[in-house]
Amino acid sequence: MIRVKKILVIGIGLAASGLFLGCAKSFKGIPEVTSQMAMNYGVEEATLARGRGIYMAHCATCHERVHPGEIDPEFWRGVTPHMAVKAKLTAEEQQQLLHYLMVAHAEVHGLDSEH
Ligand code: HEC
Repeated sequence: MIRVKKILVIGIGLAASGLFLGCAKSFKGIPEVTSQMAMNYGVEEATLARGRGIYMAHCATCHERVHPGEIDPEFWRGVTPHMAVKAKLTAEEQQQLLHYLMVAHAEVHGLDSEH
């Protein structure tokens, strides 16, 4: 039984690293907000900082925090309102969070990418 569990864990580990190897982008750490980032995407730095704060504070209580770059912008737009209800965010907080997620995604992939 213990042996089976170990094999399972190794299997999952390999599958996960395979995912990361398959992509040249790095998904390490949740991107910090910089003034450069705010300027590049034309979003207030304070808005992005609040968005990141919300993401750090409210979005990993039920499940692991997903790196913003790991999910397509379209999916973020769809899932964020749904999760905002779960996390009891205000409409403004939801907006700030979505700004941050979009910009953080673009930081990793570039604006035109849907990956
Ligand atoms: C009260 C618990 C709870 C909170 C708080 C919560 N989530 Fe979720 N989340 C879930 C559950 C349950 C699912 C599974 C799918 C569903 O219910 O839609 C999920 C699924 C997701 C998914 C889809 C994952 C995938 O790989 O398909 C994303 C992305 C996500 N949550 C992001 C967030 C964000 C962003 C926040 C913060 C605003 C958040 N979650 C807060 C419970 C929560």
